[in-house]
Amino acid sequence: MRVILLGPPGSGKGTQGDLLEKRHGFPKISTGDLLRREVRLGTPLGKKAEASMGRGELVSDEVVVEMLQKRIAQPDCRSGYILDGFPRNVAQALKLEKVIGTGPEIVFDIHLREQSLVSRLSQRRICPGCGAIYSLLTLSPEKRDVCQACGSSLIQRNDDTPKVIKERLKVYHEQTVPLIDYYRRRNVYHKIDGEGKVEDVFDRISAILDREMAKLKGAEAAR
Ligand code: AP5
Repeated sequence: MRVILLGPPGSGKGTQGDLLEKRHGFPKISTGDLLRREVRLGTPLGKKAEASMGRGELVSDEVVVEMLQKRIAQPDCRSGYILDGFPRNVAQALKLEKVIGTGPEIVFDIHLREQSLVSRLSQRRICPGCGAIYSLLTLSPEKRDVCQACGSSLIQRNDDTPKVIKERLKVYHEQTVPLIDYYRRRNVYHKIDGEGKVEDVFDRISAILDREMAKLKGAEAAR
């Protein structure tokens, strides 16, 4: 199953992607995580990407598509994957389809009020070791510093500052929103209400995913 998670910064793509990976076994691939890893390792790709990321702008399509292409060629992606943060514009969607020869089977677009996005991003902490995502709103004070999964020290992303959040939202509206129409026309688009508890959002996504997976299995069996 090829799933895409769309949505503005802070809408919960990473959080929901992790839950979907746990439940369905398809790897969650976040282009943001892949890029942050390259930056941390100081690779040539990371050096190219770092400045754009720090400003809240998109990294060039060529760099991101090449990186993603390598990742989805790995054996764990054979029966499917969940893309978090890719594509970010119609050009990337077209490039992906060219590379894999087909489009996604399902696209979830998580929506949230701008006020909630900004609040969630300002309260986010991440683990630079394993990529786990946390929120100060739900972490108890004694657990605010250390990742509960791998023990690394939690950090705030350097693009989670008010100025960069504003730019990321602008880029989302200008470049990513056109993908809504693009996937609507392909009948794979599902808008998800991202307000409320993590588990409630996950239930909304799962109900649609289960239904669509059953339909696909039925169609395969009928062939
Ligand atoms: P990326 O890392 O993809 O950032 P993003 O799209 O801006 O999305 P975020 O990771 O900020 O948010 P999210 O929706 O995953 O929310 P999360 O689950 O963490 O990209 C970063 C940069 O890399 C880009 O700006 C660009 O430069 C570059 N890049 C990446 N992909 C690219 C591409 N394809 N092309 C070009 N450049 C690219 O949740 C946020 C917070 O809310 C967390 O604290 C979480 O715990 C909390 N939370 C989640 N759900 C809930 C809930 N239901 N209730 C309360 N809190 C919640």
